[in-house]
Amino acid sequence: MRVRATTDAPADTGADTIAVGIFEGERIAHDVDGVLQGLVDSGEARPGLRKVAVAHAGGRRYLLAGLGKREEFDAERARVAAAAVAGRARELSARALCWEVPHHVEPPGFVEGTLLAAYEYREHKSGDDDGPRLEELIVSAHHDISVEVERATVATESANAARDLQNAPANQLTPTALADRARALEGVDVEVWGRAEIEQAGMGAFAAVARGSHAEPQLIAIRHEPPDVAGPLLGFVGKGVTFDSGGISIKPASKMSEMKFDMSGAAAVLEATGAIARLGLPVRVVTVIGATENLPSGHAVKPGDILRAKTGTTIEVLNTDAEGRLVLADCLAHAIDLGAERLVDLATLTGAIVTTFGNTYAGLFGSDDEWCAEVEAAGRRAGELAWRLPLHAEYGDLIKSRYADIANAVEARKAGSITAAEFLRRFTGDVPWAHLDIAGTAYENGKPYTPRGGAGFGVRLLVELARANSGAPDVH
Ligand code: BES
Ligand code: MN
Ligand code: ZN
Repeated sequence: MRVRATTDAPADTGADTIAVGIFEGERIAHDVDGVLQGLVDSGEARPGLRKVAVAHAGGRRYLLAGLGKREEFDAERARVAAAAVAGRARELSARALCWEVPHHVEPPGFVEGTLLAAYEYREHKSGDDDGPRLEELIVSAHHDISVEVERATVATESANAARDLQNAPANQLTPTALADRARALEGVDVEVWGRAEIEQAGMGAFAAVARGSHAEPQLIAIRHEPPDVAGPLLGFVGKGVTFDSGGISIKPASKMSEMKFDMSGAAAVLEATGAIARLGLPVRVVTVIGATENLPSGHAVKPGDILRAKTGTTIEVLNTDAEGRLVLADCLAHAIDLGAERLVDLATLTGAIVTTFGNTYAGLFGSDDEWCAEVEAAGRRAGELAWRLPLHAEYGDLIKSRYADIANAVEARKAGSITAAEFLRRFTGDVPWAHLDIAGTAYENGKPYTPRGGAGFGVRLLVELARANSGAPDVH
């Protein structure tokens, strides 16, 4: 979908459909011969959030979109209202939609909600695709909003690209296919290692997970390093388990197909890095992805095996289904070797975080209060929420191993998400580090604008985090 900002009045943009928001108790700002206000007065168009009424006036189609109470309005409500409008526009076979941004309201939510809601994954559907799609979104305001519209467009297009990676089946989106996507990003440097290099580098934890599969694992490093940029080198790390069967500690069959989404962290860091490069943000980023399958086989890592991570730490594998932390251990250490000065990792790491937060918050953990606060604030501004949970030496005690330095799982299954984070912490040295456990938010999160499948969670958070760590202005 093409997206552009304009200061033209909606009726002068050539759009076939114009979306106008209605706040409770407020009058229509720019009416057309009293028709729109008339529908509000008669109760046919209602101001409740997600309500959409259709009207025709001045030779055009209008969608009157309820926005609720102005004092309760925020970017999340803009996304929800925009999703409702996009759905109705689709039913009406609209081609070009113009959103009239209400006075004193920020535009990004309307762009994000429209692009996210219009996303479809139809890659493997043959035949009938029922009718035309929205081709153009025009965002109209009295003042110039082109910078924030452009930023929201790039970030949301990248979130949708992450959703394509998430939704692709694991027989297609293999570790090498993920690496191919990294190489296709514009304006970044990409280096990819295969099995031999991963093993030679001493990444015994990552290599052990990869042993069970014939698919070549890939350690993907992506760099965005514009010249003459000060500020810390940001290290983004993503879990890229393209399919997690559990390995020898195999998962139950029900819902195992969802484990194609176990590369959602990788999808987010990869596409966020692409968005940061496209936007030309003056910030340095190095992104590290550990991509592999986790499968049982005659070569697979077994419960009781002891591994040596790149840092020298020895790990007893108590459960081969706790593979994400093994992959991330070596990727975090690698990001530090590549010079990362602030770390943030994204991973569908634990089922326990879904029990804790459902689909609403990602779990946030970290060693550095200031950096965690920055990550949390970026998430709040982007509408991708994270809530901090504690680390504590007593949780650290739970991952002690009888035979090695640490174990990859806690037999009693206590504090599942926290003990996973405690494990990761041992591979972050003294670099400020934040870990986002996105198992509950990454897919099937039920939001009106990302109801099913991959949600692209984390892309907007990371772009905003990078923006905040660059010289680029906050236009929010
Ligand atoms: N990828 C899973 C976590 C997960 C579970 C993501 C459900 C999304 C939905 C991860 O690799 C895993 O299996 N974790 C185990 C850890 C346990 C064995 C210590 C878990 O959470 O059960
Ligand atoms: Mn697992
Ligand atoms: Zn996993």
